[in-house]
Amino acid sequence: MRNLFEIDPWKIIETKFDANKQKQAESIFSIGNGSFGQRANFEEKYSGDTLQGSYIGGVYYPDKTRVGWWKNGYPEYFAKVLNSTNWIGINIEIDGEQLDLNVQQIKYFHRELDMQKGLLKRTFRVVFGSGKELEVESIRFCSMAREEIAAISYTVTPLNFSGNVKFTPYLDGNVSNHDANYDEFFWLEDSRKVDIQKGILCARTKKTNFCIATAMRFSFWREQELLTIHPNVAQRDFYVENNFEHYLEKGVRFTLKKYVAVTSTINHSEFELAAKAIKRVRDAYTSGFDTLRTEHENAWAEIWKSADILIEGDEASQQGIRFNIFHLYQTYTGKNAKLNIGPKGFTGEKYGGATYWDTEAYCLPFYLKTADPQVAKQLLIYRYHHLDRAIENAEKLGFKNGAALYPMVTMNGEECHNEWEITFEEIHRNGAIAFAVYNYVRHTGDTAYLSEYGLPVVAGIARFWAQRFNWSEAKKAYVMLGVTGPNEYENNVNNNWYTNYIARWCIQYCLEVNAQVSAALPEKLSAKEIKDFQHIVENVYFPVLTDTNIFLQQDGFMDKEQLTANDIPVAERPINQHWSWDRILRSIFIKQADVLQGLYLFEDHFSEDIIRENFDFYEPKTVHESSLSPCVHVILAAKIGRMDKALELYLRTSRLDLDDYNHEADEGLHITSMAGTWMSVVEGLGGVRVTENGLSINPSIPKPWKAYSFQIRYKNQPLALSITQHKVTLENLGSAPVSCKLFGQEISVKEGEKQEAALK
Ligand code: BGC
Repeated sequence: MRNLFEIDPWKIIETKFDANKQKQAESIFSIGNGSFGQRANFEEKYSGDTLQGSYIGGVYYPDKTRVGWWKNGYPEYFAKVLNSTNWIGINIEIDGEQLDLNVQQIKYFHRELDMQKGLLKRTFRVVFGSGKELEVESIRFCSMAREEIAAISYTVTPLNFSGNVKFTPYLDGNVSNHDANYDEFFWLEDSRKVDIQKGILCARTKKTNFCIATAMRFSFWREQELLTIHPNVAQRDFYVENNFEHYLEKGVRFTLKKYVAVTSTINHSEFELAAKAIKRVRDAYTSGFDTLRTEHENAWAEIWKSADILIEGDEASQQGIRFNIFHLYQTYTGKNAKLNIGPKGFTGEKYGGATYWDTEAYCLPFYLKTADPQVAKQLLIYRYHHLDRAIENAEKLGFKNGAALYPMVTMNGEECHNEWEITFEEIHRNGAIAFAVYNYVRHTGDTAYLSEYGLPVVAGIARFWAQRFNWSEAKKAYVMLGVTGPNEYENNVNNNWYTNYIARWCIQYCLEVNAQVSAALPEKLSAKEIKDFQHIVENVYFPVLTDTNIFLQQDGFMDKEQLTANDIPVAERPINQHWSWDRILRSIFIKQADVLQGLYLFEDHFSEDIIRENFDFYEPKTVHESSLSPCVHVILAAKIGRMDKALELYLRTSRLDLDDYNHEADEGLHITSMAGTWMSVVEGLGGVRVTENGLSINPSIPKPWKAYSFQIRYKNQPLALSITQHKVTLENLGSAPVSCKLFGQEISVKEGEKQEAALK
């Protein structure tokens, strides 16, 4: 696979402007700070093919669905995260000709995303029609230290002339979503104001009434000298600008420093929103670009301290893993329980920026092991706050007595997925949410969480499952009919093994939590419920292949034509772009880990032989057409000693967007599957597991790597692991001793101490 951009351990670098790659690059070089984010659009005008994108976490619009809304229980809308005010704009004009990389001759171009420092930088030289040559250098970031601030430093140097150049810094709220179902414009303007060196635009979303304020200020510099300028102001609907002409001397650097504040009713009341934006931007302006940049870089340094993975001997893998970690932290920092992790984060529109099961199944383990427990807890609390909606959602479908069905896709707790086979049937997502509670508690030891927030969520979910199973007289067991498992290339199947397994586990877990929680909570199970739950736990039906240990994905799976992915002609891959949907549904091909997803989550329930037998059965049938798929396979492949397979799939997941394997990076990045890439290293190659029996570590190392190292948090103690071809070193960086199993051997590592073991 060719690399789209240059390989560098900390940077993504583009050295030649290619208009055909611009949309891909806009996604890949995106920046964000967990609260808001921006695709890597250019500050100056760009008339080529582009996807202008500026997104604010949690601000969405309920876009009426095109189909299905007339069916009972069907969601009426799909929540779109909104493309909002474009705050980066700085137009440059010489002699009436606008700077535009789609128009001028480009003599030099260098764009880089510095992941260590969180900076997007660009340097380029262009020749205008008049022969005038200009160099531009821009640096911008969304501050990790001040959640509502972004800053741009935009330096222009005339290379072969002295003369007037016009600068137009602006804010533009005339932006629409490319994925709007009915080409509707989602915003109403509340107010705008523009003054010398500053401006503000306030807008609100139609229907949902989210208000946002975007404020700018700027300063203008000749080299290090602050200049006094007298700009003109202009405005129209959803738009404010300053503009001024200045005489630039040849070879002298002139810099426009633009400061931006983005506030929204996610964090403030409607009435204080504008005042807050004005205050924030004034403070940023007073602090100045260099101070903001230092604060921002320091915040990133803190993140990297515990979240980095160092890979020695393979720069492509090194760059790949950092790219994933970088984008995850740009998308979610855990500062606000109202926010979550959209599959495309702030890099594109597809999937609406909404919350999927991806958060609990893939992202939560990442934050649990790389950040303060509070960060993961916020993700759990998000679902806790949506419990009433999950109960309403289940009621709409006919469930009762507090049964809760969490949505497949949501912004506010309401279901808004638009395909019936997923909305109504892909109910396994409910299990991931209960599993997340369990996962959080076993990582952090925070059992108090269960009484305060955990039991209500787990009980609601268990009550749903208990009603969703039905007793089959024929099988003398509980069955679950009409579901879609994680493999979305099957719909409306009976007894999906994964769904049955996780559902039974949830009921069992609920019984355990119920017994543990002493508080007299209203959600506690009644004596009858306890009895009914126990009966279900003991009598669930699971399809298996006779005389083997193979768990069948669903009833009737063996009736399918038994083929492997290698039987599909290369020209027909991916099948979702070449085959009719009905052909896909009838085929044996698996979109993403399904039975294997269950073996991954509940690995400690099964022997290694059983995992191997199932892996060998399902892996060859899997086409990995969801980005969430390869990581689970890496983890299981490493577990059963298939290191070559693990490395092959790891490379595919780690550079999926960076090398744009699926030709879709232009629409945005696969943020949630990036957590899967991290899992591939830490859980897969590093063999790190946290189960009820504690922490265990069984590392291995791919042949091409010299060494790799990373940190994890366990029971709030940071541990550093480093693995070479010969040995593993475990260091306790915390303040209390940690016990764990290293290669099956019980060890205890005191605070500040290291232990080593030879690699097996
Ligand atoms: C996957 C789902 C996932 C969704 C969002 C789909 O392609 O099949 O499992 O939740 O993408 O990432």
